[in-house]
Amino acid sequence: MLMKMSYCWFLFQCRPPVLRGFLFIRSNYLCPMHIDILTVLPELLESPFQHSMMKRAQEKGLLTIQVHQLRKWAVNEYGMVDDYQFGGGAGMLMMCEPLAKAIEELSVQRKFDEIIFLTPDGELFNQKAANSLSLKENLLLICGHYKGIDERIREHFVTKEISIGDYVLSGGELPAAILVDAIGRLLPGVLNNETSALFDSFQDNLLAPPVYTRPEDFRGWKVPDVLMGGNHKLIEEWRHEQSLIRTKERRPDLLNGAD
Ligand code: ADE
Repeated sequence: MLMKMSYCWFLFQCRPPVLRGFLFIRSNYLCPMHIDILTVLPELLESPFQHSMMKRAQEKGLLTIQVHQLRKWAVNEYGMVDDYQFGGGAGMLMMCEPLAKAIEELSVQRKFDEIIFLTPDGELFNQKAANSLSLKENLLLICGHYKGIDERIREHFVTKEISIGDYVLSGGELPAAILVDAIGRLLPGVLNNETSALFDSFQDNLLAPPVYTRPEDFRGWKVPDVLMGGNHKLIEEWRHEQSLIRTKERRPDLLNGAD
């Protein structure tokens, strides 16, 4: 059963469709994902992709990430990329010209499947969105700053607007890092045990069950007997039941919205 599920997941992940079933070819050689990120603060994105799974994904050639300083396309020699809002109001806006030029130049190099603007008024990011984006080949992420970006860029270039939660951050860099991490770890070959992404919280609209490691008894706090019994069917049933209990208690909305 587990094998079957993981195999389906692999097939689901294969792109382009003609390669479905040839996971090995797709995941390792033919279709690495490329992500470009446009930002005025590339320094903020230096560390997040240099460790752990994101590092491994890049080393294995499954994922390439390029962070671009938007000021490269500034409107003057002072690196100007923002200006006051028409109609008044506090705060600066990122201007059309640098963003348009950057997007157009990068679009010559790659055909983007999605041009994503990270913004608190975007669609809420979740596991389903991460799954879906992990099937794409080329993504461009735009990190907003100041009071946001000129609406015309959103209208004419952006294909998707994503928020990572109902709170306002000072820029789109951390949301971009979160997006890349959530998507990157789903690429086949990134996780040590590829099936494990299948059992993450949210993958089936359920939170993950409690997990334990050694010692079996820590200060008298014992690991549940069922996990020590070696009966895999019982363990699977127990985990599923615990997932349900946890989801009911903590995120009943997930059960209602289950699809
Ligand atoms: N930029 C600022 N806040 C954000 C959020 N919550 N999600 C995405 N981008 C953002």
